[in-house]
Amino acid sequence: MDLKDKKEYIDKIRSLAKAKNAVIFAHYYTRPEIQECADFIGDSLALAQQATRVDADILVMCGVHFMGETMKILCPEKKVLIPDMQAGCSLADSCKAEDLAAFKAQHPDHMVVSYVNTSADVKALTDVVVTSSNAKKIVDQLPKDAKIIFGPDHNLGSYINSVTGREMLLWNGACHVHSRFSLESLLQLKKENPGVEVLAHPECKAPILAQSDVIGSTKALLEHTIQSSAKRFIIATESGILFEMQRACPDKEFIPVPPEVTEGVGCSCNECEYMRMNTLEKLYDCLFNESPEMVVKKETAEKAISSIQRMLQMS
Ligand code: 13P
Ligand code: SF4
Repeated sequence: MDLKDKKEYIDKIRSLAKAKNAVIFAHYYTRPEIQECADFIGDSLALAQQATRVDADILVMCGVHFMGETMKILCPEKKVLIPDMQAGCSLADSCKAEDLAAFKAQHPDHMVVSYVNTSADVKALTDVVVTSSNAKKIVDQLPKDAKIIFGPDHNLGSYINSVTGREMLLWNGACHVHSRFSLESLLQLKKENPGVEVLAHPECKAPILAQSDVIGSTKALLEHTIQSSAKRFIIATESGILFEMQRACPDKEFIPVPPEVTEGVGCSCNECEYMRMNTLEKLYDCLFNESPEMVVKKETAEKAISSIQRMLQMS
């Protein structure tokens, strides 16, 4: 699609959203043109918080499936649309509700803290949900002697254990994008750019985090680039965030850490292909047809909402 077509699509989407009293949300990892279309761009926590505050008939969530589910659970009376129902999440997929239920049964004295990157069924088995923005703050508020299962992200869980001094039992899940950054390339980038800060998302593996100066959610990393007087940064997270960083700081330079390239395996870029499934065409069609619509079973939503609300109260 050329620039002129993109501009026309964005204009069409904006007027349709206005006519239908719809609000468009986009995660920082979506394509730049989707972020341009959105009323609200944010990380997982900010998107969930904002959804509860807007006055609209329709909410369109440009992100991945669990984000649409979270929005629907929080706003059951609103129509929640997502441009592509196939936009999943490898991290959420790494924890099936039946497996978590079996693990809980083996550890009946443990409470469950789940990352927001989980299905509604997993949230229904959870005591409190966290995001990368608030995980430390929430875990710090839990009773000191609480026994905790943390899932599904093993990298985030290890990081939270290290900064809180807890010994949470960790689920062995991972995000395929964040776990494939190349340590060798990062060390090379640091050598070529001495003194340049490394900013990493806590879903990255421990050796990458050990080489990082700032570890935080997408929003925390973005805010750091805005507030810092530095002009150059090395970034270890999904590359969609670079669009917002560059928009907020046009005079600064962002150097993405490349992923490990394993011959014949996976993709050689640091993009989340699920997030990229959100295209202008699909966004327009979903708003026009008011479909696909997110539906969460009533009994699941009723069980899941308390763990999400507890997170919002403790954030
Ligand atoms: P944030 O909580 O930083 O938005 O991260 C969500 C996510 O999917 C990271 O891969
Ligand atoms: Fe899931 Fe990873 Fe994509 Fe985030 S980047 S949505 S954790 S697959």
